[in-house]
Amino acid sequence: MHPLQCVLQVQRSLGWGPLASVSWLSLRMCRAHSSLSSTTCPSPERQEDGAPKDFSSRLAAGPTFQHFLKSASAPQEKLSSEVEDPPPYLTMDELLGRQRKVYLETYGCQMNVNDTEIAWSILQKSGYLRTSNLQEADVILLVTCSIREKAEQTIWNRLHQLKALKTRRPRSRVPLRIGILGCMAERLKEEILNREKMVDVLAGPDAYRDLPRLLAIAESGQQAANVLLSLDETYADVMPVQTSPSATSAFVSIMRGCDNMCSYCIVPFTRGRERSRPVASILEEVKKLSEQVLQLIHERDNICKQIHLPAQSGSSRVLEAMRRGYSREAYVELVHHIRESIPGVSLSSDFIAGFCGETEEDHVQTVSLLREVQYNMGFLFAYSMRQKTRAYHRLKDDVPEEVKLRRLEELITVFREEATKANQISVGCTQLVLVEGLSKRSATDLCGRNDGNLKVIFPDAEMEDVNNPGLRVRAQPGDYVLVKITSASSQTLRGHVLCRTTLKDSSENC
Ligand code: 5AD
Repeated sequence: MHPLQCVLQVQRSLGWGPLASVSWLSLRMCRAHSSLSSTTCPSPERQEDGAPKDFSSRLAAGPTFQHFLKSASAPQEKLSSEVEDPPPYLTMDELLGRQRKVYLETYGCQMNVNDTEIAWSILQKSGYLRTSNLQEADVILLVTCSIREKAEQTIWNRLHQLKALKTRRPRSRVPLRIGILGCMAERLKEEILNREKMVDVLAGPDAYRDLPRLLAIAESGQQAANVLLSLDETYADVMPVQTSPSATSAFVSIMRGCDNMCSYCIVPFTRGRERSRPVASILEEVKKLSEQVLQLIHERDNICKQIHLPAQSGSSRVLEAMRRGYSREAYVELVHHIRESIPGVSLSSDFIAGFCGETEEDHVQTVSLLREVQYNMGFLFAYSMRQKTRAYHRLKDDVPEEVKLRRLEELITVFREEATKANQISVGCTQLVLVEGLSKRSATDLCGRNDGNLKVIFPDAEMEDVNNPGLRVRAQPGDYVLVKITSASSQTLRGHVLCRTTLKDSSENC
């Protein structure tokens, strides 16, 4: 553990008064940096003026080194504000949101979009509600940007509008509280509180865990601020909540801060030192997102129920040599999970025959994986050494060419047998097919794809349109048609077309 991290950890848990905490915490931050660069920020003990001396004497009576170690022992396990002990001057009850409504407004970059979700996640756990209606808000928080002059000007203008809202608020309602979060809070600190007296709360990018406390102080009518930067805060344990159920994208933040110090840029000063989120917590979040993707594929008719899951080999030993990062068992477990999540899902895969060091036993393992999973589509290759790769430098391309080709042939045969069995389940079914165009092999046939992304070939014939009874049509690329499947091979399905339909109207029946 870096000693500076101990210092910064303990700072967060000390319950100093709001404005006192700003200056005190900033000073401690300064000390932390001073051991990195002693010339830019002299140690306060050596200063002649009153304030630092005051702090020196306060420090002497302050926590011992043991306190620092205790707080610093598990930096990433720091729990969110709901379970922290309240500072001595606030009761647990005062820290709760008590159903107060928060309106969050985001300015600037994607990091701010992510920060908004982090701040909201913390407040939600503390009992706040969210509103998208400014008029019904009890707390308005602006997640701000300092990147250019104009970005800050936008916030100042917005603050003037909000001031009017605050003044007009009827006395019968709880007073409206306004907070400035993020980069502008960090850059301007007290200047904001002094310039705009109606700002109640300031929280820098590393101080969002402190929001319930800051808002509780603001509730009592005082201004509250925490602009402490941290060396290790990544909010790893705070899962950002999706802003809206209809959101089309989600961010997975993997690091915070910046150490680049480009000569024009404020970011290293507003967001602090570069730090990465622990890999385990990133993986956990990505896993949750992957679950959501599986759920969506299952639910939505307009998404193909097909997943490409390149295995490369069925032998854990070869997978390790390939540095794939999973074992055969983990892969098979994933296949089962996907099949449970999306019944009827179509699976495809890539395999390499004859990778460096592959034994006959390894090859048999791959054959058995092909049998076990029974893919609907497969892409199989003989290994060919590529220059510059790790295998080129570290491994030996020791499987003779004829052995590679023989193993490849065996893999192809087994794949085809299994795919034919898997695809034959469709025979007799009526499937929804998205028409792509003429078949490559025959000018009288059309070609399209079913919901499993499998090729379906059918004669180009006139048919009825379900939305225009009596109208006879020929399928065009982009049309949806219902096809009765009459035969199946390892690569394609064949059938005859029943009618033209739409995604909405169709419901597959088998
Ligand atoms: N030799 C053989 N196949 C390879 N692939 C990638 N590199 C090689 C190689 N050197 C295959 C893998 C991959 C697909 C795109 O090509 O199976 O998933």
